[in-house]
Amino acid sequence: MKELLSSDAMATTLAARLDRVAARFERQLQSDLAQVNSLARHVERYRGKMLRPTLVIISGWAVRDSMPEDTEVDSRIDTLAAVVEMIHMATLVHDDVLDEAQMRRGGATVNSLRGNETAVMLGDFLISSAFHLCSSVGLPWLNSALGVTTTQLCSGEILQLTHRGDTALSEATYFEIIRRKTGVLSGACCALAARLAGGADSVVSALHRYGEDLGMAFQIQDDLLDLIGEESVVGKTLGIDLQKGKLTLPIVIHLGRASAPGREETLRAIAACDRTGLVALVRGTGSLGAARERAMELVSSAKERVECLTDSPSRRLLESIADATVERVY
Ligand code: FPP
Ligand code: MG
Repeated sequence: MKELLSSDAMATTLAARLDRVAARFERQLQSDLAQVNSLARHVERYRGKMLRPTLVIISGWAVRDSMPEDTEVDSRIDTLAAVVEMIHMATLVHDDVLDEAQMRRGGATVNSLRGNETAVMLGDFLISSAFHLCSSVGLPWLNSALGVTTTQLCSGEILQLTHRGDTALSEATYFEIIRRKTGVLSGACCALAARLAGGADSVVSALHRYGEDLGMAFQIQDDLLDLIGEESVVGKTLGIDLQKGKLTLPIVIHLGRASAPGREETLRAIAACDRTGLVALVRGTGSLGAARERAMELVSSAKERVECLTDSPSRRLLESIADATVERVY
């Protein structure tokens, strides 16, 4: 993230804020039971780019650019940043159970180390801790908005599950799945931070749309990496979408473009979980590039959403974060 920052001063301030967020996160997870503490320590290894807390903090800055400093607002925003990271960690721990993933962020997943029951309980502990921490802000609307967010997120996962193995999955349904499972949380990060920062409704709404578009672009890139990335670079088990019958955008586009024999060959590659063969077929119809283009369109859309904000280093950072989501290789 540092390379995106326009000035050293901004990078230092953001790093200090993220340290505060990490401290709040760790404090909230402390238990009177050593067994719980040892398990909770595992998720500290999961924390990587801190993208969601960064979106919270920068969205707050983008709104408060010309406003006086307010330590109470900053403190609430830091708490929100810790809460969204905890929600995100909970979803990853549960997602790795569903996906039977062995590796995440270069290390062993909780399910592979400690089994599914423990991983499910750790995810529950995290989600419960997130809402407990959120309630300390004392704003019922914030708890309610995050409740709507996590409910939508779960509904996205359910929608995805019901379409497992569905080779007739439409682009519209794919986009609805990724909007719910990934877009709504990043949308909430930006919108709720903007609201805590005292932003006007139009600004809250613009940042909400920015976050949703960015989240969807991020998920398309994630899906591309699952298909064509290298495990040693990405740091997590790849090829899972295929194994779990999750059709992702490049494949959906390809199936719409392929000739009848090409389609048959593709369905055979999907059934055989032949990642290399599938990539060659998908590449052949230009569908990898087409999926990448859809992600780039979402990035452009995200950047247009924030054009209504006052031009500031924070706004430019939001624009750079959007660009980085599709440039990343991990
Ligand atoms: C990553 O998908 C998964 C998500 C974005 C959401 C997962 C959500 C759940 C499992 C529901 C649990 C919800 C709560 C509130 C605890 P992916 O498998 O495509 O990404 P990956 O490559 O990082 O594994
Ligand atoms: Mg997964």
